[in-house]
Amino acid sequence: MSTPADVLVLFGVTGDLARKKILPALYRLTERGELTVPVVGVALTDWDDEKLRGHVADSVHAAIPDVDAAVLGRLQAATHLVAGDYADPGTFAALAKAVPDGAFAVHYLAVPPSLFGTVADGLAAVGLAERARLVVEKPFGHDLASAEALDALLATHYSEDQLFRVDHFLGKEPVEDLLVLRFANTLLEPLWSRQWIDRIEITMAEDFDVADRGSFYDAVGTVRDVVQNHLLQVMAYLLMDAPLSDAADDQRDAKHALLRAVRTLDPAEVVRGRYAGYLDTLGVAADSTTETYVAATFHVDNWRWSGVPVHLRAGKELPVTVLDVVAVLKPPPRPLFGVERPDRIRLRLQAGAGVTFTLLAKRPGAGDVPVEIPVAADFRQVLGAMHEPYERIFADALAGDPAHFARMDTIEEAWRIVGPILDAADEPLEYARGSWGPAPAAAVPGPQGWVELPPPGA
Ligand code: BG6
Repeated sequence: MSTPADVLVLFGVTGDLARKKILPALYRLTERGELTVPVVGVALTDWDDEKLRGHVADSVHAAIPDVDAAVLGRLQAATHLVAGDYADPGTFAALAKAVPDGAFAVHYLAVPPSLFGTVADGLAAVGLAERARLVVEKPFGHDLASAEALDALLATHYSEDQLFRVDHFLGKEPVEDLLVLRFANTLLEPLWSRQWIDRIEITMAEDFDVADRGSFYDAVGTVRDVVQNHLLQVMAYLLMDAPLSDAADDQRDAKHALLRAVRTLDPAEVVRGRYAGYLDTLGVAADSTTETYVAATFHVDNWRWSGVPVHLRAGKELPVTVLDVVAVLKPPPRPLFGVERPDRIRLRLQAGAGVTFTLLAKRPGAGDVPVEIPVAADFRQVLGAMHEPYERIFADALAGDPAHFARMDTIEEAWRIVGPILDAADEPLEYARGSWGPAPAAAVPGPQGWVELPPPGA
């Protein structure tokens, strides 16, 4: 359904996500002329329109250095507030008055998932569920059963094509670019299978701790926070077969087919870690067994990838912040020049987005001595600044393009894959802050360890 929105309704307009990500993204969309409809913020607050507009300005200034006063003014003028409790039908009656008759609305739920059902019911009760899309933030469920229950709840008022499930990694330009890199070129695709790839390593490292999110994080842990959603969606783009077309459902069919082939994780192939001092974080239970780090080996049981392990690690308080994929190629059939390290293709999907091919070339001088040289492209340098994920997400939600939202069948497969490692009762292994995780994780890809990830250009 690609009906463009006539109004954007933002539940949770006074919250953290709105302040840090959403309001700055709406400023950028206003600047580019992609947001021209009224924005109705909803929250339980004693603010009025004026106070909300001040908050919009503060949030935009905090995130964007060179704010254009005229653009900000346009966004502020378009913004209105409906204040009230989501459990109070009066809130939705007031919202119904604020939404012009017959308008097609995008309802964006930047609220805790426990409130999704209440808001959906409230909207339906005043007839606002019909000409509308419902956009919900992650996490979608806590496990497979709760995700299915949540879906059933939302399905009482919304059809699948009205439901947009946010995974903001799908709005990251370098993640979206995986599709173009892989299928607009013929350079990579012939190599991209068990025939030439020996193993794949995916790293999502963050060099910061859980900060003031202790109570949220402790109930979640790394697997639920970033693996079940963000990283399995990335893995799907990385390994799927070519979609029939670029259309949303063709892309999502291809992702679903890939995730169906990913074997359910075996806890014996998983290392869980926790950084030193995590238990002292405000909001973290004294007897917590929540992981802040995980390393695991995935197996893809299909024609293309059979026998190629996909090693993945993710964690907080690691030495750097990166989202990187390294494909390690098979060695040539015979080593003609002594011991040679295999070629590698590194896709950098976050800081310094780009690609690096590690090639061997002859060292100048006598003898055929191979040395490694990086052949690198920095996409930002070549292509210019990228849009922030929430800019893409809101632009697509307003336009009605579901391609970069998670379809329910992929969410179900992802919960199935991580199911056996959720809620592990054993203590995670401790690791020093700023290290690469607990010692046993180093050998997850094999005795040679993980491929080093030098900063781009180093
Ligand atoms: C969020 C997680 O979904 O993604 C955070 O809850 C994580 O723990 C964040 O830090 C990473 O997103 P980004 O866009 O900052 O890379």
